[in-house]
Amino acid sequence: MYDFLYQVHVGTWVILLVFVVLNMFYRSFILKLLFRLCSVFMLGSGVGLAFYLSFPIIFIVKLVLALLLIGLTEIILKKDNPREESYLLLLISGLFLLLILIGFGIIRF
Ligand code: HEM
Repeated sequence: MYDFLYQVHVGTWVILLVFVVLNMFYRSFILKLLFRLCSVFMLGSGVGLAFYLSFPIIFIVKLVLALLLIGLTEIILKKDNPREESYLLLLISGLFLLLILIGFGIIRF
């Protein structure tokens, strides 16, 4: 089961990144839907994996950061021109970077 969740998690993070970027350029219901679907898979597989590892504190932090990332992305997608929201864009990019660094174990505590 761990291997399955791991494959789903590893498979979805790049796809999630692609959908976040695509959503900045194209307004489409399907793209938004795919972004949300990916977010659910990402969160679900991540929480599942963290349970197998007995949920260390770093993954609680990761969960909070991931929820923040998804929330901020939802907010930016509501704006008339998402690409002009430089402050939000910077926050979202920073959060993504942090999550990936935590995922690969480069940031740990
Ligand atoms: C947008 C959100 C997220 C991103 C971008 C992300 C990214 C990553 C990446 C890049 C990896 C490493 C994959 C590899 O080794 O090839 C990873 C692994 C992992 N992630 Fe996430 N992740 C996210 C959300 C979450 C959440 C919400 C949790 C759980 C609370 C989580 C828990 C884990 C766990 C447990 C691993 C495996 C660590 C290990 O085996 O050492 N992730 N993640």
